[in-house]
Amino acid sequence: MTFQLDTDLTGHHCPDPLRHAFVAKTSAHAGRGSNGPLSPEETHRVWRGQQPVTTPETRLAYFHIPFCKTHCSYCGFFQNTSKEQEIARFVDSLEQEIIQTGQMAWVQSQPLSAVYFGGGTPTDLTPEQIIRLGDAIKKHLPLADGVEMTFESRFTGLDDTKIQACIEAGFNRFSLGLQTFDTFIRRKMSRIDPQEVLLERLEHLAKQQGVTTVVDMIFGLPWQTEEHWLKDLELINQTGIHGADLYQLIVMGQTRMAQSIAKGSMPAPGDTPFKAGLYQMGVETMQANGWDRLSLSHWGRPDAEGKVRERNIYNHHTKAGCEMIPFGCGAGGKVNGHSVMLHRALEPYHAMVAAGQKPIMGMMAADPQLALSRVLGAGFDLGRLDLAQLAATTMNSDMGGDIVSHCRPLFEAWQNNGLAVLDDNSLTLTLAGQFWNVNMNQALNNYLERYPLNGQQPGQAA
Ligand SMILES: C[S@@+](CC[C@H](N)C(=O)[O-])C[C@H]1O[C@@H](n2cnc3c(N)ncnc32)[C@H](O)[C@@H]1O
Ligand code: SF4
Repeated sequence: MTFQLDTDLTGHHCPDPLRHAFVAKTSAHAGRGSNGPLSPEETHRVWRGQQPVTTPETRLAYFHIPFCKTHCSYCGFFQNTSKEQEIARFVDSLEQEIIQTGQMAWVQSQPLSAVYFGGGTPTDLTPEQIIRLGDAIKKHLPLADGVEMTFESRFTGLDDTKIQACIEAGFNRFSLGLQTFDTFIRRKMSRIDPQEVLLERLEHLAKQQGVTTVVDMIFGLPWQTEEHWLKDLELINQTGIHGADLYQLIVMGQTRMAQSIAKGSMPAPGDTPFKAGLYQMGVETMQANGWDRLSLSHWGRPDAEGKVRERNIYNHHTKAGCEMIPFGCGAGGKVNGHSVMLHRALEPYHAMVAAGQKPIMGMMAADPQLALSRVLGAGFDLGRLDLAQLAATTMNSDMGGDIVSHCRPLFEAWQNNGLAVLDDNSLTLTLAGQFWNVNMNQALNNYLERYPLNGQQPGQAA
């Protein structure tokens, strides 16, 4: 069979693949063509029909707190403005949802390796609410020894009492949405705390016993120059924190940022080649400062004994498509290969919990190639595909055949275009490939749809 390898799959052959192999990153994550939604009846049948699992598997739980005090200009995750009474009502329902979900034998059958409170703004909960929810989790859900429990936080409102409440509730990891230390750029994004507050809070957090502190940074923000970015990287290094994520800005349609740029009231952010340069600076600076690379976008800092406290369990296993039990209004999850979304609107969320039902808004049909999706998700997150592992996902499955040979023309084209290095054991992304990893993962999915293994469309295997 001859393959027509278009540049949307292979990238362009050019002298500077880091900046120009593809045109732009189109989304935050790669995705497979949808398997189609299940009907509401089927959805609840699948949820209720989950059987206890006896083979050990990595399980995660995600809690979505759908309130924010302000709507940051770049963000597409905003759902509701924080209001005391609404939050109190939500916490009542969420506690109920934890109790109800914890009654399922399937939920109890495997311990949770990571619990993540995200949003939205979990720091808009009161200390009492945080402790109450932490107690419900510890009482009703099975937690693995050494479970990673993350509290995603903003700096605003993260006072000492709230930090202590989180620790008392069982959280052992704070993930702070820092974005940039530059006070002027922060304020333009509706992030109000100035640099001095950020540095003081990070120092305070870094001193907490047994607690891991990590920050999210964004590169490519409007007004951000190379000097700003270098300064951000230098400041991260000066604090005592344990980990950092470096994210490329994606200007999402419908955000205030996209509207302001379109109107001309905000300067356009740096283009993709500029962001590629910032990525390179990030990789090189973190390495020069002695940080360990835990994934393509995440770093952990070794302590004086060379031990890296940051484990990155939740983030990596999410990318690897592990089971994820969702909780809270607007949470997404993964159940036995089905993507699940809980209600995003508060009223149906409350009504279903009150009726004793899991508040599911929608569920997709199961991914027929779950093992393959997981190996690709994990491999692209780490920048290296293990070819033996990849081959095993199809060898003994309904798909049949050798996926590595099947994809070799694409792998060789990536190598030829400076995006990867192929040897007998692995496909390893170059710096350029690391920057374009989401496009490449998506390209591999598209390739398998265009040229199905053994002539079968993915998903049609008997
Ligand atoms: C789901 S958001 C929630 C963060 C939390 N509510 C906060 O404000 O810090 C998690 C992280 O995604 C990143 N993020 C959000 N919008 C982004 C965008 N448009 N482009 C790149 N990264 C983005 C930010 O670094 C953010 O901290
Ligand atoms: S970045 Fe965080 S606080 Fe800001 S709107 Fe998005 S979810 Fe809310």
